[in-house]
Amino acid sequence: MLINWFPGHMAKAGRLIEENLKVIDVAIELVDARIPVSSANPMIAALLGDKPSVVVLNKADLADPKLLDIWKSYYRERGRAVIAVSSKDGRGVKSLVALVRGMAAPKLERWRARGLGNRSVRTIILGIPNVGKSTLINRLAGRNAAKTADKPGETKGKQWVHLADNLDLLDTPGVLWPKLENQLSASRLAATGAISDTVFDMEEIVTALVDELSQRYGEALKKRFNLTNLGDTPQDTIRAIGQKRGAVVAGGKLDFEKTYKLILKDYREGRIGAVTLDWPEDFTTDEENTGADDD
Ligand code: G4P
Repeated sequence: MLINWFPGHMAKAGRLIEENLKVIDVAIELVDARIPVSSANPMIAALLGDKPSVVVLNKADLADPKLLDIWKSYYRERGRAVIAVSSKDGRGVKSLVALVRGMAAPKLERWRARGLGNRSVRTIILGIPNVGKSTLINRLAGRNAAKTADKPGETKGKQWVHLADNLDLLDTPGVLWPKLENQLSASRLAATGAISDTVFDMEEIVTALVDELSQRYGEALKKRFNLTNLGDTPQDTIRAIGQKRGAVVAGGKLDFEKTYKLILKDYREGRIGAVTLDWPEDFTTDEENTGADDD
C-alpha cells in the first residue's frame, strides 16, 4: 500500500521554511518521541545547514522511557543537542528554554562584544503536522491557542513571543511534510495519528501495529486486552481482541472496523502503555539521523 495523501507542495514548503530560517538563530526541531525518525522531515538537515538546532522528543509521556534514553544517546553521539519534553503537561519545557538559551549564548556574546547587546536571539519550532508544535508554543507562551499555519511551510506574518531574556520565539510554527517515502515510517505515522484516518487503509495499519506491538511490547498488549496468549498471526490477535471487547455484528461475526478503531484509539491514548515504535536498529545507516535518504 502506498499512502500518498500529501499532494506535493514540498519544494514550496521548503522554500518558505528556508525564508523563515533566515531570521532564526537557533531552530527547534520537534519530533514525536514514539517515532523520532519516522516523524522527522527528510529534508530538515539540508534546510538547517549549519544553523544551531535542538531535537525535541515531544510526547515523551507516551514513549518508552528506555527508548527515550537510547534515542537521546543516538542524537548526542551524532553531535546533536536533544531533549525530551511533554508539551501537554509541561514536563521538560523549562529545560528546553534553558538549552536554547545556552545554545544562543555564543551569539549573544558576539553581539555584546560588538555593542549590540539588546538584540534578541530568535527561535522557531519546526515539525510535521501533529507532533505538538502548537501545544508547545502555547505552553511556552502560557496561553491557549497558537496561531497555526494551515499548510506545510506557510507562515502568517511574523509575530514573536518573548520566552526569556534576549530570547524570542516565532509565534507560528514551521510546518513540514511527513516522511512517506518508506512503508515502515508511513505506517507508523498513520498509527500515531500524524496522518489523517481518512487516507489510510485501517486494516493494514492496525495489522502492522499489532504485529510490531506483539514483537516488542507483547506483555503490554496482552495485559491491556486481557489476553492469555497472543495469536499466531496479528490477524488472530486482532480477532481475539475484538472478541474480548465484544465487537461483534448481528450473527456473532466479528466487527473488524470497530476492532481496528478501538485498538488504534487505545494505542494513541497510551492505554497500551508507554510504547516506542521507532527503534534505532530499524533504520539502515543511510537513513541515520534525520533520515536523509531522499537526495
Ligand atoms: P501540531 O501543532 O504540531 O499540529 O500539533 P498539536 O499541538 O495540535 O498537537 C497534536 C496532538 O498532540 C494534540 O492532541 C495534542 O494535545 C497532542 N500533544 C501535543 N503534545 C503532547 C504531549 O507532550 N503529550 C501528549 N500525550 N500529547 C501531546 P489532539 O488529540 O489533537 O487534541 P487534544 O487531545 O489536545 O484535544
